[in-house]
Amino acid sequence: MVLTERVALITGAGRGIGKAVALRLAAAGASVAAVDIEAEAAAGTAEEIRETFSATSSSFACDVSDYGQAASVVEEVIGKYGSLDILVNNAGITRDSLIMRMKPDDWDLVLRVNLTGAFNFTRAAARQMTKQRSGSIVNISSVVGLTGNAGQANYAASKAGLIGLTKSAAKEFAPRGVRVNAVAPGFIETEMTSRLADEVKEQWHRIIPLGRGGTAEDVASAVLFLAGPDSEYLTGQVIQVDGGMVM
Ligand SMILES: NC(=O)c1ccc[n+]([C@@H]2O[C@H](COP(=O)([O-])OP(=O)(O)OC[C@H]3O[C@@H](n4cnc5c(N)ncnc54)[C@H](O)[C@@H]3O)[C@@H](O)[C@H]2O)c1
Repeated sequence: MVLTERVALITGAGRGIGKAVALRLAAAGASVAAVDIEAEAAAGTAEEIRETFSATSSSFACDVSDYGQAASVVEEVIGKYGSLDILVNNAGITRDSLIMRMKPDDWDLVLRVNLTGAFNFTRAAARQMTKQRSGSIVNISSVVGLTGNAGQANYAASKAGLIGLTKSAAKEFAPRGVRVNAVAPGFIETEMTSRLADEVKEQWHRIIPLGRGGTAEDVASAVLFLAGPDSEYLTGQVIQVDGGMVM
């Protein structure tokens, strides 16, 4: 129970990796604010946490790309729980196509949700965390942010941008005791990847040295490490959870 008395806010917590992270942090003792654009999904995660771990958890409907919504969720969470110790910027979307065919709106939307969303919550949470002189922010990037990927220019740019945001924020907040790190998952079996064609999934699996796709729980393990005291001397780092796919 390394996170007892810690308050964690996770965006995109309604399903997939965000939900697995929310459950894992709650299992480690944290009070969890589950944030998602899908109100019912967020409520489902919070309810599962309360039932499974008898832990404190609430849900918040919020579009991370809107700064006003992000700031008011952070304010509500601090009002309710008295602090904010862990922020996991996980909400993310894809709108894949080749650059020549990519609609400018799809470029904008992916950048707004994946990158601006993380900036919004980081900015809103930083005031409290720097005042407390403690906190851990974990951004969910992607190996695609390191390698690029044909057909995912918007997504790859947003995930590379998250790495720049992580390192800049790590440098800005380190003197105030706030750490900022990123996790870069490889191919993880969630609803996001279930939409891919079977041959695309097979292609991914073929290039993973450990021979399988990852699970949301594999990512949650890395987030728990970065969120908690076991990583207290790490900041500005990107941990790949990819079965060895990119090295
Ligand atoms: N699945 C993978 O293989 C993989 C690999 C690398 C990185 N990632 C990243 O991990 C994160 C989670 O991915 P996942 O596979 O669990 O995806 P998912 O689609 O299963 O879940 C994403 C969640 O984010 C929420 N969301 C979407 N837009 C939002 C918004 N504007 N505001 C608030 N919430 C919003 C969705 O409602 C959903 O609950 C994403 O950032 C994704 O880019 C996933």
